[in-house]
Amino acid sequence: MGFSLLMYVLLAVTGGSLFWHRQAQQPRPRWWRSLHIAFGSILVGLVLLLLAVGIIGTLGHFGSLGHSPHLFAGLTVVALVLISAASATQIHPRHPWVRHLHIGTNIALLGALAWVLLTGWVVVQKYLP
Ligand code: HEM
Ligand code: HEM
Repeated sequence: MGFSLLMYVLLAVTGGSLFWHRQAQQPRPRWWRSLHIAFGSILVGLVLLLLAVGIIGTLGHFGSLGHSPHLFAGLTVVALVLISAASATQIHPRHPWVRHLHIGTNIALLGALAWVLLTGWVVVQKYLP
């Protein structure tokens, strides 16, 4: 999870730089975009991994899902990350709303990550004496 937060920060920095270069109409180094996409792919992989671990671990331990809002928070994070990545592939100067969707889902993602951390922390407390 710490690693996915790090990825989020790196994505915000590299994405912010892409944004700045476009606003200033400066040519941007091509590897900067590749770096952003690489970080993005890692984030997608990590979030899917955490989802799998969460579901398999909970099923193995309890035999059922849905013990807390953490399930809903986790699914929200996964959905937002997938929408963000899907919209990113469609970013094009001719459809500016796709870029707004990408940026909007990523701002929402910040809140969802905080939510999954908090609810995850709450379920961790259940296992502590
Ligand atoms: C989920 C994984 C992600 C993928 C696969 C991804 C991919 C992309 C791609 C392909 C672009 C378009 C670059 C271009 O203009 O050619 C882009 C732009 C951008 N992304 Fe991401 N991204 C991801 C996550 C994020 C996150 C988490 C943030 C912010 C916290 C972010 C912020 C931005 C910003 C600000 C832009 C600039 C758009 C512009 O040109 O104004 N991205 N991203
Ligand atoms: C993107 C991040 C995450 C995703 C997608 C995710 C997803 C899930 C899912 C779907 C479950 C099954 C929950 C249920 O059915 O009740 C689960 C369980 C669990 N998760 Fe996460 N999780 C994430 C992050 C975290 C974090 C940051 C923590 C700790 C702070 C955490 C701790 C736990 C624990 C302890 C369980 C067992 C739940 C229980 O006993 O009810 N998770 N996770």
